[in-house]
Amino acid sequence: MDTQNRVALVTGCGKQDGIGAAIARRLAGDGHAVVVVDIEAGGARDTHEPDGLAKAEWRGVESLVEEIRTAGGTATSALGDISNREDVARIMADAAQAFGGVDILINNAGAPFSMGHGDIVDVDPVEFERVMAINVTGTFLMGQAVAARMREQRWGRIVNVASVAGRVGSKMNSAYSASKAGVIALAQTWALDLGADGVTANAVLPGLIHTSRTISGMSKKAGAPIDPAKLSKTVPGVPAGRAGTPEDVAGTVSFLASDSAAYVNGQSLIVDGGSLRL
Ligand SMILES: NC(=O)c1ccc[n+]([C@@H]2O[C@H](COP(=O)([O-])OP(=O)(O)OC[C@H]3O[C@@H](n4cnc5c(N)ncnc54)[C@H](O)[C@@H]3O)[C@@H](O)[C@H]2O)c1
Repeated sequence: MDTQNRVALVTGCGKQDGIGAAIARRLAGDGHAVVVVDIEAGGARDTHEPDGLAKAEWRGVESLVEEIRTAGGTATSALGDISNREDVARIMADAAQAFGGVDILINNAGAPFSMGHGDIVDVDPVEFERVMAINVTGTFLMGQAVAARMREQRWGRIVNVASVAGRVGSKMNSAYSASKAGVIALAQTWALDLGADGVTANAVLPGLIHTSRTISGMSKKAGAPIDPAKLSKTVPGVPAGRAGTPEDVAGTVSFLASDSAAYVNGQSLIVDGGSLRL
């Protein structure tokens, strides 16, 4: 029987339709207390994000906490930039004050789609470095901040939300692909560093998931806002015949965060409706 009263911290939870919020809802439903984190309460807005994707009353992580509590769960929020060491220390202090400490870390936060996006000759090196700082350094700092406690209590779960782009590359996405390969490598390395201590570290690699991030990305590629409804229709090349949902990713994360996944370590689980089959 799985133990379900642990403390989970999930980064990148500010968007109503985001993967982070879905993971937080799922882990709270599994019985864990959750700490929902973002750099801004409502999530950092992408430059190509069309207006009106979140409901007017949505107040980001504050609304998410209310939603989870109303459903009978336990939650609190913390704001901060995961690429900043002081912010990471403050987020961890907030989590410790609220619930004692973090048993399950879900590194879901990611730089906005448009940051560093473009053909190799066009990418701004400053943006490239910022993507690496958020996705790789941020993931590292969060993992480092929880490792000692997890090791000491001889139980811990770390799940890094990477991307299929980190495994097979992604056109016009040098920064994103390189950073997500780094996120996968961090999970593999932590599996080795912490595996003997009852701690697992795995990566989840989503394919095309229906979130405002994807809508922003497709709008950027199309040069105009695209209709979100179109994304849900049949997607060429995806055997499942549809885009994935944030809940599809959350279900996989829930398994990796559980006692049932104790012997799954250092893995990269692809959640893409069957597109890659690696
Ligand atoms: N949507 C997809 O199709 C897809 C596919 C593969 C992987 N992913 C990955 O899944 C994760 C969630 O994606 P999403 O679609 O929900 O996108 P999203 O961009 O809406 O979510 C990312 C969240 O991270 C937050 N964030 C950004 N920088 C931060 C920082 N420095 N500190 C703290 N928080 C920060 C943002 O504010 C945002 O709320 C991302 O890591 C993304 O790369 C998404």
